[in-house]
Amino acid sequence: MRHLLSVSDLSIDEIEKLVFESVVSPLPPRVLSPVAGSVGMVFMEASTRTRSSFALAAYRMGRHSIYLGTQESSLSKGETLEDTLDNLQAMGCSGFVVRASQQVDLHSLKNYSKAPILNAGDGMREHPTQALLDLATMWNKTAERSWEKLRQQKWVIVGDLKHSRVAHSWAILADRLSINLCFVSPEEWKPSFLLSGQQWTSDLNEALSGATGVIVLRVQKERFGSDEEWGEGSLKNFVSKYQLSKKVLSKKELFLMHPGPVNWGVELALEMKNYERSLLLAQVEQGLHMRSSLLNFFFR
Ligand code: CP
Repeated sequence: MRHLLSVSDLSIDEIEKLVFESVVSPLPPRVLSPVAGSVGMVFMEASTRTRSSFALAAYRMGRHSIYLGTQESSLSKGETLEDTLDNLQAMGCSGFVVRASQQVDLHSLKNYSKAPILNAGDGMREHPTQALLDLATMWNKTAERSWEKLRQQKWVIVGDLKHSRVAHSWAILADRLSINLCFVSPEEWKPSFLLSGQQWTSDLNEALSGATGVIVLRVQKERFGSDEEWGEGSLKNFVSKYQLSKKVLSKKELFLMHPGPVNWGVELALEMKNYERSLLLAQVEQGLHMRSSLLNFFFR
């Protein structure tokens, strides 16, 4: 059984085909079919974009979806994720979209589930569908939609790298596709997942020099564990040195991406809401097409 728990669960050829399809020829909507297996969506953490786009993608692919969040399901009574998926499968779900909390590693279900699982964000581990939709958004903006030209560009990813499942998926994706991605964060938020040869710096201006675009990440206040990691001092320091504003990007003409949700006034200045090279909503739109393609690919 194939699952999408990590970006490494897809071959390079498959990734390039999924990007091509989601950008160039998004799958047309299908008639909703009661006999097509339903999609079980189990979310142990809050979501707006991933949840909505998977539900809409399932509908476009002719499948019903059913949503269970922790608070309104028996997960809140201590029922395990395994039992939850078994029960949904018994009701006709032929695959799952799961956002796991940090306490539940989705990889533990790899050999358990007989239906495909798509990772919709796995604690602080990975968020493969976000990295894939980001990649499709970038590729769409590359001249002639050329993989070779994308590999010649430099991209920057900046913010709270330490807690970011998106950055982790990006580290693996950039390594596999030979994309030049420079990781930027304060020293104390340097991640442990970087792969051999990947660039990390605490100097944002140096990193932005010569770059085509920048992916900005949310400061995930809820994941900071102690006063050493988080405090007013570190927030002020972060805003003064790493916040992206029009002044920081002046004359650089960089594309701007962010997986959302945005802490306006923290990692992005409020004025960036109308930044002319912002791709924030293009990412959201691309997410619907990429997730339609992924459902079609994994849920046969
Ligand atoms: N980017 C992302 O995963 O957003 P949500 O948490 O709203 O799904």
